[in-house]
Amino acid sequence: MKFSRIAGTGGYLPEKILTNHDLEKFVDTSHDWIVERTGIHQRHIAADDETTATMAKEAAQVALKNAGIEADQLDLIIVATCTPVNMFPSTASELQHLLGASKAGAFDIAAACTGFVYGLSIADQFIRSGQCKHVLVVGSEVLSRALDWKERTTCVLFGDGASAAVLSASDEAGIIATDLHSDGSLGDILYLPQQRTDGSVVMRGREVFRHAVEKLVASSHALLKQCGMTTKDLDWVVPHQANLRIILYVLDKLHIPVEQSILTIDQQANTSAASVGLALHEGVSSGRIQRGQTILLEAFGGGLVWGGALIRF
Ligand code: ACO
Repeated sequence: MKFSRIAGTGGYLPEKILTNHDLEKFVDTSHDWIVERTGIHQRHIAADDETTATMAKEAAQVALKNAGIEADQLDLIIVATCTPVNMFPSTASELQHLLGASKAGAFDIAAACTGFVYGLSIADQFIRSGQCKHVLVVGSEVLSRALDWKERTTCVLFGDGASAAVLSASDEAGIIATDLHSDGSLGDILYLPQQRTDGSVVMRGREVFRHAVEKLVASSHALLKQCGMTTKDLDWVVPHQANLRIILYVLDKLHIPVEQSILTIDQQANTSAASVGLALHEGVSSGRIQRGQTILLEAFGGGLVWGGALIRF
Protein backbone atom coordinates (compact mmCIF):
# COMPACT_ATOMS: atom_id res chain seq x y z
CA MET A 1 0.00 0.00 0.00
CA LYS A 2 1.65 3.15 -1.24
CA PHE A 3 -0.63 5.91 -0.02
CA SER A 4 -2.44 7.27 3.02
CA ARG A 5 -6.10 8.20 3.31
CA ILE A 6 -8.22 9.75 6.02
CA ALA A 7 -10.09 6.85 7.58
CA GLY A 8 -11.99 8.93 10.13
CA THR A 9 -12.30 12.44 11.53
CA GLY A 10 -13.24 13.78 14.96
CA GLY A 11 -13.76 16.99 16.84
CA TYR A 12 -14.38 18.32 20.31
CA LEU A 13 -15.58 21.71 21.55
CA PRO A 14 -15.82 22.59 25.25
CA GLU A 15 -19.31 23.09 26.61
CA LYS A 16 -18.87 26.70 27.76
CA ILE A 17 -19.68 29.32 25.12
CA LEU A 18 -18.50 32.94 25.27
CA THR A 19 -20.54 35.16 22.95
CA ASN A 20 -19.54 38.56 21.63
CA HIS A 21 -22.20 40.04 23.91
CA ASP A 22 -20.54 38.32 26.89
CA LEU A 23 -17.22 39.88 25.81
CA GLU A 24 -18.77 43.35 25.60
CA LYS A 25 -19.22 43.20 29.38
CA PHE A 26 -15.48 43.16 30.14
CA VAL A 27 -13.67 44.21 26.92
CA ASP A 28 -13.93 47.56 25.11
CA THR A 29 -15.52 46.01 22.01
CA SER A 30 -18.91 45.37 20.42
CA HIS A 31 -20.74 42.44 18.84
CA ASP A 32 -21.19 44.47 15.66
CA TRP A 33 -17.49 45.32 15.33
CA ILE A 34 -16.42 41.71 15.83
CA VAL A 35 -18.98 40.35 13.35
CA GLU A 36 -18.23 42.98 10.71
CA ARG A 37 -14.41 42.70 10.92
CA THR A 38 -14.09 38.94 11.55
CA GLY A 39 -17.39 37.03 11.10
CA ILE A 40 -17.10 35.66 14.65
CA HIS A 41 -20.24 35.41 16.83
CA GLN A 42 -19.03 33.16 19.65
CA ARG A 43 -16.19 30.90 20.79
CA HIS A 44 -15.91 27.87 23.11
CA ILE A 45 -13.84 28.10 26.30
CA ALA A 46 -12.26 25.12 28.09
CA ALA A 47 -13.40 24.33 31.63
CA ASP A 48 -10.83 24.62 34.42
CA ASP A 49 -10.29 20.85 34.51
CA GLU A 50 -9.84 20.54 30.74
CA THR A 51 -6.38 20.54 29.14
CA THR A 52 -4.95 20.33 25.65
CA ALA A 53 -4.54 16.57 26.19
CA THR A 54 -8.02 15.85 27.58
CA MET A 55 -9.64 17.74 24.72
CA ALA A 56 -7.37 15.91 22.27
CA LYS A 57 -8.59 12.62 23.75
CA GLU A 58 -12.24 13.52 23.15
CA ALA A 59 -11.58 14.41 19.49
CA ALA A 60 -9.33 11.37 18.97
CA GLN A 61 -11.91 8.93 20.29
CA VAL A 62 -14.46 10.20 17.76
CA ALA A 63 -11.92 9.89 14.93
CA LEU A 64 -10.95 6.35 16.00
CA LYS A 65 -14.61 5.31 16.13
CA ASN A 66 -15.27 6.79 12.69
CA ALA A 67 -12.17 5.06 11.33
CA GLY A 68 -13.24 1.74 12.86
CA ILE A 69 -9.91 1.12 14.55
CA GLU A 70 -8.83 0.67 18.16
CA ALA A 71 -6.28 2.88 19.92
CA ASP A 72 -3.84 -0.02 20.26
CA GLN A 73 -3.68 -0.32 16.46
CA LEU A 74 -2.11 3.16 16.19
CA ASP A 75 1.56 3.25 15.19
CA LEU A 76 2.07 6.97 15.75
CA ILE A 77 0.37 9.96 17.37
CA ILE A 78 1.16 13.51 16.20
CA VAL A 79 -0.30 16.44 18.14
CA ALA A 80 -0.14 19.96 16.72
CA THR A 81 -0.49 22.59 19.42
CA CYS A 82 0.87 25.96 20.48
CA THR A 83 -0.74 25.68 23.91
CA PRO A 84 0.78 22.56 25.52
CA VAL A 85 0.73 22.33 29.31
CA ASN A 86 4.37 21.20 29.32
CA MET A 87 7.19 21.15 26.81
CA PHE A 88 7.62 17.58 28.03
CA PRO A 89 5.95 15.21 28.48
CA SER A 90 4.52 16.15 25.10
CA THR A 91 0.77 16.47 24.70
CA ALA A 92 1.07 13.55 22.28
CA SER A 93 2.59 11.34 25.00
CA GLU A 94 -0.15 12.39 27.43
CA LEU A 95 -2.71 11.53 24.76
CA GLN A 96 -1.05 8.18 24.04
CA HIS A 97 -1.50 7.30 27.72
CA LEU A 98 -5.08 8.62 27.93
CA LEU A 99 -6.07 6.58 24.86
CA GLY A 100 -4.15 3.45 25.90
CA ALA A 101 -2.42 3.47 22.52
CA SER A 102 0.14 0.99 23.77
CA LYS A 103 2.33 0.61 20.67
CA ALA A 104 2.23 4.17 19.30
CA GLY A 105 5.16 6.55 19.17
CA ALA A 106 4.15 10.12 19.99
CA PHE A 107 5.41 13.66 19.46
CA ASP A 108 4.15 17.24 19.26
CA ILE A 109 4.69 19.70 16.44
CA ALA A 110 4.69 23.49 16.67
CA ALA A 111 3.38 25.07 13.50
CA ALA A 112 0.75 27.39 15.02
CA CYS A 113 -2.47 27.47 12.99
CA THR A 114 -0.89 25.45 10.18
CA GLY A 115 -0.22 22.58 12.59
CA PHE A 116 -2.99 20.29 11.36
CA VAL A 117 -1.85 20.58 7.74
CA TYR A 118 1.80 20.00 8.79
CA GLY A 119 0.62 16.99 10.82
CA LEU A 120 -1.22 15.47 7.86
CA SER A 121 1.86 15.90 5.71
CA ILE A 122 4.15 14.23 8.27
CA ALA A 123 1.68 11.38 8.82
CA ASP A 124 1.44 10.87 5.06
CA GLN A 125 5.24 10.51 4.81
CA PHE A 126 5.34 7.91 7.61
CA ILE A 127 2.64 5.87 5.89
CA ARG A 128 4.05 6.21 2.36
CA SER A 129 7.46 5.04 3.61
CA GLY A 130 5.83 1.88 4.98
CA GLN A 131 6.89 2.63 8.56
CA CYS A 132 3.33 3.12 9.84
CA LYS A 133 -0.10 1.75 8.96
CA HIS A 134 -2.32 3.90 11.19
CA VAL A 135 -1.37 7.43 12.34
CA LEU A 136 -3.47 9.74 14.51
CA VAL A 137 -3.15 13.47 13.77
CA VAL A 138 -4.60 15.87 16.34
CA GLY A 139 -4.80 19.65 16.64
CA SER A 140 -5.70 20.79 20.15
CA GLU A 141 -5.61 24.25 21.69
CA VAL A 142 -6.55 25.99 24.92
CA LEU A 143 -5.93 29.45 23.53
CA SER A 144 -8.13 31.06 26.19
CA ARG A 145 -5.14 30.58 28.55
CA ALA A 146 -2.73 32.26 26.12
CA LEU A 147 -4.61 35.54 25.68
CA ASP A 148 -4.51 38.90 27.36
CA TRP A 149 -8.23 39.30 28.02
CA LYS A 150 -7.79 43.08 28.23
CA GLU A 151 -6.28 43.28 24.72
CA ARG A 152 -9.25 43.71 22.40
CA THR A 153 -7.20 43.42 19.21
CA THR A 154 -6.44 39.74 19.95
CA CYS A 155 -8.73 38.29 22.63
CA VAL A 156 -11.90 38.51 20.53
CA LEU A 157 -10.40 36.34 17.77
CA PHE A 158 -9.70 32.98 19.42
CA GLY A 159 -11.44 29.96 20.92
CA ASP A 160 -10.65 26.51 22.36
CA GLY A 161 -11.17 23.13 20.71
CA ALA A 162 -9.61 19.95 19.34
CA SER A 163 -9.79 18.02 16.10
CA ALA A 164 -8.44 14.69 14.93
CA ALA A 165 -7.98 12.51 11.87
CA VAL A 166 -6.89 8.89 11.60
CA LEU A 167 -4.77 8.27 8.51
CA SER A 168 -4.46 4.68 7.32
CA ALA A 169 -2.44 2.95 4.60
CA SER A 170 -4.34 2.64 1.32
CA ASP A 171 -3.94 1.47 -2.26
CA GLU A 172 -5.43 4.75 -3.48
CA ALA A 173 -4.17 8.26 -2.78
CA GLY A 174 -6.17 10.01 -0.06
CA ILE A 175 -3.55 12.62 0.71
CA ILE A 176 -2.73 13.54 -2.89
CA ALA A 177 -0.16 16.25 -2.11
CA THR A 178 0.86 18.72 0.58
CA ASP A 179 2.60 22.09 0.37
CA LEU A 180 4.42 23.51 3.40
CA HIS A 181 6.11 26.91 3.79
CA SER A 182 7.68 29.17 6.37
CA ASP A 183 9.17 32.67 6.47
CA GLY A 184 10.80 33.21 9.86
CA SER A 185 11.71 36.79 8.96
CA LEU A 186 8.02 37.58 9.59
CA GLY A 187 8.06 36.02 13.07
CA ASP A 188 7.53 39.34 14.81
CA ILE A 189 4.11 40.07 13.28
CA LEU A 190 2.41 37.21 15.13
CA TYR A 191 3.91 35.39 18.10
CA LEU A 192 3.18 33.68 21.40
CA PRO A 193 5.99 33.85 24.00
CA GLN A 194 6.48 30.80 26.21
CA GLN A 195 3.67 30.52 28.69
CA ARG A 196 5.96 30.22 31.72
CA THR A 197 6.67 33.91 31.17
CA ASP A 198 2.92 34.50 31.23
CA GLY A 199 3.00 35.23 27.54
CA SER A 200 0.00 35.99 25.41
CA VAL A 201 -0.61 36.24 21.67
CA VAL A 202 0.92 39.37 20.11
CA MET A 203 -0.15 40.36 16.60
CA ARG A 204 0.08 43.07 13.99
CA GLY A 205 -3.31 42.22 12.54
CA ARG A 206 -3.29 44.14 9.28
CA GLU A 207 0.10 42.76 8.22
CA VAL A 208 -0.94 39.21 9.10
CA PHE A 209 -4.11 39.71 7.08
CA ARG A 210 -2.22 40.86 3.97
CA HIS A 211 0.36 38.04 4.13
CA ALA A 212 -2.35 35.45 4.80
CA VAL A 213 -4.31 36.29 1.65
CA GLU A 214 -1.22 36.53 -0.58
CA LYS A 215 0.38 33.32 0.68
CA LEU A 216 -2.76 31.17 0.78
CA VAL A 217 -3.61 32.05 -2.82
CA ALA A 218 -0.05 31.28 -3.98
CA SER A 219 0.09 28.00 -2.05
CA SER A 220 -3.31 26.87 -3.35
CA HIS A 221 -2.26 27.53 -6.95
CA ALA A 222 1.07 25.74 -6.40
CA LEU A 223 -0.64 22.71 -4.92
CA LEU A 224 -3.16 22.42 -7.74
CA LYS A 225 -0.45 22.86 -10.37
CA GLN A 226 1.69 20.18 -8.71
CA CYS A 227 -1.25 17.76 -9.14
CA GLY A 228 -2.23 18.87 -12.66
CA MET A 229 -5.56 20.18 -11.35
CA THR A 230 -7.48 23.45 -11.39
CA THR A 231 -9.96 24.90 -8.95
CA LYS A 232 -12.69 23.32 -11.13
CA ASP A 233 -11.54 19.91 -9.89
CA LEU A 234 -12.31 20.85 -6.28
CA ASP A 235 -15.49 19.83 -4.50
CA TRP A 236 -14.67 21.67 -1.27
CA VAL A 237 -12.25 24.12 0.29
CA VAL A 238 -11.66 23.68 4.02
CA PRO A 239 -9.86 26.85 5.13
CA HIS A 240 -8.21 27.84 8.38
CA GLN A 241 -10.84 29.84 10.28
CA ALA A 242 -9.00 33.01 11.36
CA ASN A 243 -11.15 35.72 9.84
CA LEU A 244 -14.14 35.41 7.49
CA ARG A 245 -12.81 38.31 5.42
CA ILE A 246 -9.51 36.47 4.82
CA ILE A 247 -11.44 33.34 3.77
CA LEU A 248 -13.66 35.34 1.39
CA TYR A 249 -10.72 37.22 -0.18
CA VAL A 250 -8.86 33.97 -0.83
CA LEU A 251 -11.94 32.25 -2.30
CA ASP A 252 -12.58 35.26 -4.50
CA LYS A 253 -9.03 35.30 -5.83
CA LEU A 254 -9.26 31.55 -6.54
CA HIS A 255 -12.69 32.05 -8.22
CA ILE A 256 -14.30 29.51 -5.91
CA PRO A 257 -17.87 30.18 -4.68
CA VAL A 258 -18.22 30.52 -0.92
CA GLU A 259 -20.86 27.75 -0.99
CA GLN A 260 -18.01 25.34 -1.75
CA SER A 261 -16.24 26.13 1.53
CA ILE A 262 -16.81 24.83 5.03
CA LEU A 263 -17.18 27.71 7.50
CA THR A 264 -17.12 27.33 11.27
CA ILE A 265 -15.66 30.70 12.24
CA ASP A 266 -18.97 32.22 13.33
CA GLN A 267 -19.47 29.53 16.00
CA GLN A 268 -15.88 28.58 16.91
CA ALA A 269 -13.61 31.59 16.18
CA ASN A 270 -9.94 30.78 15.54
CA THR A 271 -8.94 27.53 17.28
CA SER A 272 -5.43 27.62 15.75
CA ALA A 273 -4.08 24.10 15.13
CA ALA A 274 -7.55 22.63 15.70
CA SER A 275 -9.34 24.84 13.20
CA VAL A 276 -8.83 23.08 9.85
CA GLY A 277 -9.51 19.67 11.37
CA LEU A 278 -12.65 20.94 13.10
CA ALA A 279 -13.93 22.38 9.82
CA LEU A 280 -13.12 19.12 8.02
CA HIS A 281 -14.97 17.14 10.68
CA GLU A 282 -17.93 19.53 10.47
CA GLY A 283 -18.06 19.03 6.68
CA VAL A 284 -17.94 15.25 7.06
CA SER A 285 -20.34 14.91 9.98
CA SER A 286 -22.90 17.24 8.39
CA GLY A 287 -22.87 15.01 5.29
CA ARG A 288 -21.61 17.72 2.95
CA ILE A 289 -18.18 16.17 2.40
CA GLN A 290 -18.61 12.74 0.84
CA ARG A 291 -16.20 9.88 0.16
CA GLY A 292 -14.42 10.30 -3.19
CA GLN A 293 -14.62 14.10 -3.22
CA THR A 294 -11.58 16.31 -3.78
CA ILE A 295 -10.81 18.83 -1.04
CA LEU A 296 -8.31 21.62 -0.58
CA LEU A 297 -7.25 22.31 3.00
CA GLU A 298 -5.34 25.55 3.57
CA ALA A 299 -3.88 27.29 6.62
CA PHE A 300 -1.48 29.97 7.84
CA GLY A 301 -0.23 31.06 11.24
CA GLY A 302 2.52 32.46 13.41
CA GLY A 303 6.00 31.76 12.10
CA LEU A 304 4.93 32.69 9.61
CA VAL A 305 3.99 29.21 8.47
CA TRP A 306 1.47 28.37 5.81
CA GLY A 307 0.51 25.63 3.39
CA GLY A 308 -2.16 23.27 2.19
CA ALA A 309 -3.15 19.70 1.51
CA LEU A 310 -5.03 18.35 -1.48
CA ILE A 311 -6.96 15.26 -0.49
CA ARG A 312 -9.42 12.79 -1.96
CA PHE A 313 -11.68 12.00 0.95
N1 ACO B 1 -13.32 45.96 19.08
C1 ACO B 1 -13.50 47.22 18.68
N2 ACO B 1 -12.57 47.92 18.03
C2 ACO B 1 -11.42 47.31 17.77
C3 ACO B 1 -11.15 45.98 18.16
C4 ACO B 1 -12.16 45.31 18.84
N3 ACO B 1 -12.04 44.02 19.26
N4 ACO B 1 -9.91 45.65 17.74
C5 ACO B 1 -9.41 46.72 17.12
N5 ACO B 1 -10.31 47.73 17.14
C6 ACO B 1 -10.17 49.07 16.58
C7 ACO B 1 -8.73 49.50 16.46
O1 ACO B 1 -8.27 50.06 17.67
C8 ACO B 1 -8.83 50.54 15.36
O2 ACO B 1 -9.29 51.74 15.89
P1 ACO B 1 -8.71 53.16 15.35
O3 ACO B 1 -9.10 53.20 13.89
O4 ACO B 1 -9.40 54.14 16.20
O5 ACO B 1 -7.21 53.08 15.55
C9 ACO B 1 -9.92 49.98 14.44
O6 ACO B 1 -10.65 49.04 15.23
C10 ACO B 1 -9.39 49.28 13.21
O7 ACO B 1 -8.36 48.37 13.62
P2 ACO B 1 -7.61 47.46 12.57
O8 ACO B 1 -6.57 46.66 13.30
O9 ACO B 1 -7.19 48.28 11.40
O10 ACO B 1 -8.82 46.52 12.13
P3 ACO B 1 -8.85 45.44 11.01
O11 ACO B 1 -9.96 45.70 10.11
O12 ACO B 1 -7.49 45.19 10.41
O13 ACO B 1 -9.25 44.15 11.83
C11 ACO B 1 -8.25 42.16 12.71
C12 ACO B 1 -8.41 43.68 12.85
C13 ACO B 1 -9.60 41.53 12.88
C14 ACO B 1 -7.32 41.69 13.82
C15 ACO B 1 -7.69 41.84 11.30
O14 ACO B 1 -6.57 42.64 11.04
C16 ACO B 1 -7.28 40.39 11.21
O15 ACO B 1 -8.10 39.51 11.27
N6 ACO B 1 -5.99 40.14 10.97
C17 ACO B 1 -5.52 38.78 10.83
C18 ACO B 1 -5.59 38.07 12.13
C19 ACO B 1 -5.19 36.66 11.96
O16 ACO B 1 -5.57 36.03 11.02
N7 ACO B 1 -4.38 36.17 12.85
C20 ACO B 1 -3.91 34.85 12.63
C21 ACO B 1 -3.82 34.18 13.89
S1 ACO B 1 -3.22 32.62 13.45
C22 ACO B 1 -2.09 32.04 14.60
O17 ACO B 1 -1.12 31.46 14.23
C23 ACO B 1 -2.36 32.28 16.08
